[in-house]
Amino acid sequence: MDHDPTRAQATAALTLVGVGPGDPELLTVAAVRAIEAAAVVAYPVARLEAEGMAARIAAPWIQAGQRRLPLLFPMVAEAEPRRAAWHAAAEALAAQLQAGHAVVLLCEGDSSLYASCSYVLLALAERHPAMAVRVIPGITAAAAAAAAASSAGIPWPLALQQEPLWILPTPDTAAELGQLLEAAAAAGAVLALLKLGHRWSWVQPLLEQRGLLAQTLFAQRVGWPDQLVAAAEAVSPAEQPYFSLLLIRQGWPAVLP
Ligand SMILES: C[S@@+](CC[C@H](N)C(=O)[O-])C[C@H]1O[C@@H](n2cnc3c(N)ncnc32)[C@H](O)[C@@H]1O
Repeated sequence: MDHDPTRAQATAALTLVGVGPGDPELLTVAAVRAIEAAAVVAYPVARLEAEGMAARIAAPWIQAGQRRLPLLFPMVAEAEPRRAAWHAAAEALAAQLQAGHAVVLLCEGDSSLYASCSYVLLALAERHPAMAVRVIPGITAAAAAAAAASSAGIPWPLALQQEPLWILPTPDTAAELGQLLEAAAAAGAVLALLKLGHRWSWVQPLLEQRGLLAQTLFAQRVGWPDQLVAAAEAVSPAEQPYFSLLLIRQGWPAVLP
């Protein structure tokens, strides 16, 4: 569909769009429609010359005539540069809206779960409280990983019956992960551990020691052409890329087919 600037200007608004974990087919219809209706497509980048993960995922849905607005979110630990970047992004988006343009801000995975665009949402609420923002959810990586496993013949329901599902970043130390595994086992909770990456080199031996590798799913770059979704016992304990996660199930409900 050709981009129609008249339509976009008539509906000037900001929409935060979850674009899913990687496969462009996993954007919702609402996400695709919002992108198509936008005059300006904004997306996070870690460096200005970088393409940005969310923009790459949504690339098939972005038209050549749409203006691209990369927003710099530096990957640093210090608070100040990050705060400054969120506020600068909020101002850049507000300026586009004030100029009458419909804008989308693309967010990898879901738009509310450990998402860069949540900081922009909060910064906008503080700086421009009257500005209307629409948020379109996206398919989160943990859900996509479970579906990819089940599709590959490893049935992986994320949660059944009364089971809690705990989604959290992988802890930084073996002691914390040990405590988490014990708490999850006691609560009958399934764990989705994000931000695994380099931690896998010590997480793997710990899970092996506890006899949990067979119950753990390893998922890397889900939805990308080089996706790897496998039982964790099949994955070597080398460091892994940032876009990797674990699903850990330590038990099953009593009543099952
Ligand atoms: C900052 S969080 C963003 C989560 C995202 N908003 C979502 O809903 O999935 C980044 C972490 O999500 C996980 N992740 C995101 N996309 C992924 C993918 N395609 N494959 C595997 N893990 C992914 C990884 O654990 C990564 O370290």
